[in-house]
Amino acid sequence: MKEAFIKFENVNLTYDLYLDKTNNLKEYVINKLTNRRPVSKVMEKVAALKNINIEFRHGDRIGIIGRNGAGKSTMLKVISGIYKPSSGKLTVSGNIQPLIEIGAGFDPEFTGRENIYLNGYMLGFTKEQIRLKENEIIEFTELGEFIDVPVKYYSSGMAVRLAFTIATSIEPEILAFDEMLAAGDIEFIQKAKLRMDSLITKAKMLIIVSHDLGMIKSLCTKVLVFHQGQICFIGTPDEAIEFYVNRGYDK
Ligand SMILES: Nc1ncnc2c1ncn2[C@@H]1O[C@H](COP(=O)(O)OP(=O)(O)OP(=O)(O)O)[C@@H](O)[C@H]1O
Ligand SMILES: [Mg+2]
Repeated sequence: MKEAFIKFENVNLTYDLYLDKTNNLKEYVINKLTNRRPVSKVMEKVAALKNINIEFRHGDRIGIIGRNGAGKSTMLKVISGIYKPSSGKLTVSGNIQPLIEIGAGFDPEFTGRENIYLNGYMLGFTKEQIRLKENEIIEFTELGEFIDVPVKYYSSGMAVRLAFTIATSIEPEILAFDEMLAAGDIEFIQKAKLRMDSLITKAKMLIIVSHDLGMIKSLCTKVLVFHQGQICFIGTPDEAIEFYVNRGYDK
């Protein structure tokens, strides 16, 4: 059996951010409304991951916590291949199913049912394989006749239901997920957690980014605390949560 394995060696990721060089909101809005060109655009670099060195092994259940903007989602996007490191080396062995950007694969003009096929193809399924999953997916979403309505008319919670269910209809070796249920209602979140449980049990490696410290504690065996693009603490869930809550990185 192939072992699931991830290794970061001096990995950096820098975003290029183009900013309108307007320094107040009113000027910015007027420029937008009148189509007036801003005086100039400046390019700023945001170092979202700084020199990351870490290995995740088969059986690891990793939690990633930290403040807004610390680089957690970027870390998952790099692992999932959505972004390439700006420098350094990343090795990922094992197939990975990121549950990240909800609905990133949706075409809003297509119906829910058509999007099941569209997403299925993108995940590498054949038409026949998707047909076998189609009813189960539709049933789980409880979207009823909305399944044949274009996705652009969905509420955000309805889109979450569909995207989550499609993404969890395959069983990956490496399961990586970022806060993704935020728009779901309580009934769906409970149901979704049960569905996740079986995927989590089967996954060879689990990586979770969340602000829900209770969930991190219940699912993970090792937790990383991110701060300003770096891993500033690694420990058991209890140790890491204590470090984060008491803002150990400020001390
Ligand atoms: N597509 C992007 N283009 C430019 N900058 C980005 C982009 N995505 C993220 N950033 C920047 O990179 C940094 C890290 O962002 P990231 O989304 O990884 O943080 P996070 O830890 O997931 O935060 P949160 O808890 O708010 O989800 C932030 O400074 C953010 O502004
Ligand atoms: Mg994030």
